[in-house]
Amino acid sequence: MQQVIIDCDPGIDDALALEFAIKSKELEVLAITVVAGNAPVDIGVENTFKVLERCDRLDIPVYRGAEIPLERPNVSAQDTHGMDGFGESGIVRQSKVQPQKETAEEFLTNFFSEKRDVGILALGPLTNIALAIQLNPKLGQNIQRFVTMGGTYKSHGNCSPVAEYNYWCDPDAAKMVYESLGSTIEMVGLDVTREIVFSPAILEYCRRINPEAYEYLRKLTRFYFDFHWQYEHLLGCVINDPLAVACYISSEICNGFDSYVEVETQGISIGQTLVDRYDFWQKEPNARILETVDTKEFFTQFLTVLLDAPEATIASDLNLLKLG
Ligand code: BDR
Ligand code: CA
Repeated sequence: MQQVIIDCDPGIDDALALEFAIKSKELEVLAITVVAGNAPVDIGVENTFKVLERCDRLDIPVYRGAEIPLERPNVSAQDTHGMDGFGESGIVRQSKVQPQKETAEEFLTNFFSEKRDVGILALGPLTNIALAIQLNPKLGQNIQRFVTMGGTYKSHGNCSPVAEYNYWCDPDAAKMVYESLGSTIEMVGLDVTREIVFSPAILEYCRRINPEAYEYLRKLTRFYFDFHWQYEHLLGCVINDPLAVACYISSEICNGFDSYVEVETQGISIGQTLVDRYDFWQKEPNARILETVDTKEFFTQFLTVLLDAPEATIASDLNLLKLG
């Protein structure tokens, strides 16, 4: 069992990732920190509690984090995730649980003031992590692992021709994390997450296996489906963040390479990850870039957990149905 702290901006795919991580037998989620990104931070906190209530895990502490990126105004992705950040799904929560008194950056700073056998899984803009590094420059030495959904190597961006949303939203934070974390960053970028399409066929399969989970997934992803159709003529939706969970559980689900990475903070390439694969800059690698992914293995793991079904059944159905 690996212990992890999740930093996120829920967000439809963050919500799926949180449920995947919380219900996974391989992970113990110790705390959740929330950052402004897909939606303003208070909406993200609210959505985190919706997921915790669904998972019956309101005992997991939630910390409210940064309201805005380090040096820029927040540009939310409510066009993608809905004004409620939850796909305009109408899903509400019953409980009145509130976030902890400490802020996200205070919590991260204090928690990692000593060496821990605990990693961070970052699913949103890296503002909270950068603020924590500013408060505690040793943070990187004290975390066991750092996996981030963000950036892109060869695939095109989703906010500009070259930039992925999380790093585009707060490029200064991303730059600081890549420059000063001091431990290898596992970059789960668009090269691999774009392969993870939650299709209408997979959704229909969910209905056959677990009607209650299907109903939730249908409501949550409808807006995301419409967005992908409108902008990319894609049937279904790309669920980025759950792949970062799968990578955290087992890095073997993706292949990649080590490289030095720098994040652009200015101009038309703002937010771009420059991946020096061929070592032009002669700098020590600071990241592992994931390049290919076993999508069938991903969907087997993901659906086994979200549909609460036997892994062997899901694996053989996905093979027969040629899904994933
Ligand atoms: C990332 O941006 C957000 O919209 C998603 O939640 C994901 O973390 C993809 O670019
Ligand atoms: Ca996210």
